[in-house]
Amino acid sequence: MSTTAPSTTSARPFNARTDDILAQLEHGGQYKHLQMLTGPMGPTVMLRKPNGDSREVICMCSNNYLGLANHPEVVEAGIEGIRKYGAGTASVRFICGTFDCHETLERTIAKYMGTESSYTFVSCWTANEALYPTFAEPGDALISDELNHACIIDGIRLAAVIKKGVVKGVYKHNDLDSLREKLEATRANPDVTGQIWVVTDGVFSMEGDIADLPALRKLCDEFDAMLIVDDSHGHGVMGTTGRGTHEHWNMCPGAADYDASRGEVDFFTGTLGKALGGGAGGFIAGSKRGTELMVQRGRPTLFSNALPATVACSANTAIQIVMREPQRVQALRDITAYARQQITAAGFEVIDSPTAICPIIVGDTAKAIAMSKRLLELGVFVIGFGYPVVPEGAARLRLQMSAAHTTEHVDAVVDALRKL
Ligand SMILES: Cc1ncc(COP(=O)(O)O)c(C=O)c1O
Repeated sequence: MSTTAPSTTSARPFNARTDDILAQLEHGGQYKHLQMLTGPMGPTVMLRKPNGDSREVICMCSNNYLGLANHPEVVEAGIEGIRKYGAGTASVRFICGTFDCHETLERTIAKYMGTESSYTFVSCWTANEALYPTFAEPGDALISDELNHACIIDGIRLAAVIKKGVVKGVYKHNDLDSLREKLEATRANPDVTGQIWVVTDGVFSMEGDIADLPALRKLCDEFDAMLIVDDSHGHGVMGTTGRGTHEHWNMCPGAADYDASRGEVDFFTGTLGKALGGGAGGFIAGSKRGTELMVQRGRPTLFSNALPATVACSANTAIQIVMREPQRVQALRDITAYARQQITAAGFEVIDSPTAICPIIVGDTAKAIAMSKRLLELGVFVIGFGYPVVPEGAARLRLQMSAAHTTEHVDAVVDALRKL
């Protein structure tokens, strides 16, 4: 084995190739510059200027859908949590890493979701990375919508690596015919001897469109497949009381408009880092059998610490507020309808949907980035998304509404858009 070290650290392959990647990103206008916020998340935020001062801008790019990220009760619950439990257990959950506030939060989530049980993680990314490799076994097939979130894609990839013999499939976005074809091919595949799983986002974050859960359920039943929904953008937004896309489709047990004939979703993943408090954290929700398997066998469960107690306590309070104040969900719906109407009247094309995501299509990636830069100068904080996050030619400004926005905020945003 050679013991000769490179003469300088910059000769190391990592250094040279990383400098290349970063230079290419800068050159292609895709380099991400992190904006520093100097105060809490709200309908407006304080952004740090290059000279170190801060200025207030209207925030149109947070997932703070119900305005709970800085709600006094949510903040207070977090403070009480850290006072009562300290910073954490310094342990993974199955050893001595589970506080009773985790149990409380998991009961609250199950009640809110209308499921038998739930189990939390430090993020929804981790929840997805835990779920697929834990639930799938060799001979199973995981069939996923092509526009599913990156953490679903990676979770499925990980399952196929960890459990050799797990079969992967992708169907065209929200296309039931394409899914049927995949299911037929999967059933005919001799390598598929176990469970078939169909996986979809509830709300798709780039388009703001939603999955047709009753139709997916029916199709799954035809092929004896189980249905998993990541509803990170649906919680707090969809359904009369904000329980999610399953409530929107009358598939949420415990909700007033539940229709048992439509069937249920088998498992959910979701985040606590958007409408439900906005701190961090994720969960799976579904049968007790599934969460027990996660406790026993999930690698992120067995080898990684729990959600910090302060976050568990504030998320628990945020969900209590959603259940107590469904009028927040209606306020979000009203302000979103107003925004769509005003933006369209100003001559922009907004993708229509029942969600709080309002993508304004501008086409070219460089144009989307230039527009978001100009909007920031005009006091509106909104991000431009381009290729490869969205398809080539479909670059967009993604405006996300919050129940905390007022019509004055929307009018100011539309004024700025007109100036473009
Ligand atoms: C659909 C979906 N799932 C999961 C996540 C990840 O959530 P978290 O931030 O809790 O890891 C996101 C975040 O953008 C998301 O949009």
